[in-house]
Amino acid sequence: MRTLLLCALLLGLLFIPACIFDNNATGPRDGRTDYMNPAAGVEERVADLLSRMTLQEKIGQMTQAERGALYQVSDIRTLFLGSVLSGGGSSPGANNASAWADMTDGFQQQALQTRLAIPLIYGIDAVHGHNNVYGAVIFPHNIGMGCTRDPDLVREAAEVTAAEVSGTGIHWTFSPCIAVVRDERWGRTYEGFGETPELAEMMAAAAVEGLQGVIPGEPGRIVACPKHFLGDGGTLGGDDQGNTVVSEAELRAIHLPGYEAAVRAGAGTVMASYSSWNGVKMHGSRYLLTDVLKGELGFDGFVVSDWAGIDQLSGGYEEDVEQAINAGIDMVMVPTRYREFITALDTLVDQGRVPMERIDDAVSRILRIKFRFGLFEAPFADRTEIMHIGSAAHREVARRCVRQSLVLLKNDGGRLPFTGSETRIHVAGRNADDIGAQCGGWTISWQGGRGPITIGTTIYRGIAQRAPAGTVVTYSPDGSGAAGSDIAVAVIGEDPYAEGAGDRADLSLSDADVTTVKRLKQAGVPVVAVLVSGRPMILEEILDDCDGLIAAWLPGTEGRGVADVLFGDVAPTGTLSHSWPLNMAQIPVNEGDGVYNPLFPYGFGLTYE
Ligand code: BGC
Ligand code: BGC
Repeated sequence: MRTLLLCALLLGLLFIPACIFDNNATGPRDGRTDYMNPAAGVEERVADLLSRMTLQEKIGQMTQAERGALYQVSDIRTLFLGSVLSGGGSSPGANNASAWADMTDGFQQQALQTRLAIPLIYGIDAVHGHNNVYGAVIFPHNIGMGCTRDPDLVREAAEVTAAEVSGTGIHWTFSPCIAVVRDERWGRTYEGFGETPELAEMMAAAAVEGLQGVIPGEPGRIVACPKHFLGDGGTLGGDDQGNTVVSEAELRAIHLPGYEAAVRAGAGTVMASYSSWNGVKMHGSRYLLTDVLKGELGFDGFVVSDWAGIDQLSGGYEEDVEQAINAGIDMVMVPTRYREFITALDTLVDQGRVPMERIDDAVSRILRIKFRFGLFEAPFADRTEIMHIGSAAHREVARRCVRQSLVLLKNDGGRLPFTGSETRIHVAGRNADDIGAQCGGWTISWQGGRGPITIGTTIYRGIAQRAPAGTVVTYSPDGSGAAGSDIAVAVIGEDPYAEGAGDRADLSLSDADVTTVKRLKQAGVPVVAVLVSGRPMILEEILDDCDGLIAAWLPGTEGRGVADVLFGDVAPTGTLSHSWPLNMAQIPVNEGDGVYNPLFPYGFGLTYE
């Protein structure tokens, strides 16, 4: 009886927000939908809730703060924050799934204690798996997924990512990045699926569907955020956050198709780009954000700014906020000075510089997504998913992604696949036994890092696991000790980086990598190079020394997928998502250029005979 009473009490508590304020002056009641009623239509719920909100509550919904920047957790409640995010590497003290769920549920409790109990939408960059969480499965970065030419696989990977993310109480990922990357000097080249609009179009919808599911609000799914709108991959010189100088026709032809596909697939949110179009910052472009994206494309979700993206507009802070909100930014990833942002927007509305209709439109869009994706009904972490984070089944999907993303660029004398009767295989190179290197940026930390940063199988371990009983696998980071082996594998390439820190004027291999390959060659054994990198690199110095060459991109935690191909358990099927430049002078080089002589063309890829 006691328990029954308690249950009834708890149930009652749950419904308090819906009924206690029935007498509230702001809300018409009778004959109208109650926003807490899940049976009512989304648009009616939005209208009802909006009609009950004060300006303070509306501005709160438009504000996104970084978790580490919260002065106190109760700010979520007292300032009515609509969203909190984790920036790259912004994890709770203990980086494990339960700690993540405890953290986000704690934030959610704050939001649900507000007068109207509007749930918080927590966002994170889950761009190749739930990559901030230790032990989560890490998929190949998008540049490799583009080489699979397999949207079903992209959908499946996104589905796994969504399940892992939802286990930690997070409802929203800032992905997929659908940048059409025209210049490999850009440090974010690996975040996009490739250099053509076809690839962005093909993969955007698949990723969105995998993340969100087909019926919004299914358990285990999350809200997607195609980014960065528009033209992020087209900047001059591949400058991060730079200027995309193209005609409107070219902007639309190259950079828009991915968004058309993503919006058609129902993407709930879109992120604005730091970059400019012909000198105009995207965060201030009413034409592209409002007229094109929301108008022409019919996008009915909300636009989130990039991290402090509005601060880059040319005025003082108030003018920045004014310009960005009026241009069509609905939620601002502030992410630290959120009190200042709230005050600024409040003043702007007061002075009539941001019209109330714009505020109502922005808030309606945010509420629409929260209702549509079931946040009011399931605001907390789906802890049944925790046990699946980094599970064998999830890793199996990632391993398939690795296999299919590898591109065989050279195979002189048919050295690959291995025969299976080698007595010794020598593995070498700085990236052979390094989980961090093969995951790249946006893994555990923002920039990523070398070394055993999370759980997984390195490429070297994968080869050792797969080698038949009669084959010895030896290893040296610098290529020494190869003499006498039947074949050598040099795993070389880049160090991890993210965003502007990865911009490079020179994509040559490091001296250490060149020396490693030469050393193997001098040992008189056939050499197969496996390049672990976020983009094509200049191969002039080693190409002639290699009998075989594989572009492995940034494969993530399942290095065993590389062994699957080396040993011929699976034949390579990947084809290039980027034209491969012969030298730096050729960059930018893209499919369709008038003069086009890359080392390997877009779409190139060998397989076994
Ligand atoms: C990046 C975005 C990312 C955001 C949040 C920004 O610096 O440009 O891609 O989603 O940070 O981490
Ligand atoms: C954050 C990233 C963010 C970047 C923006 C970093 O401190 O961790 O998530 O993208 O700042 O510059």
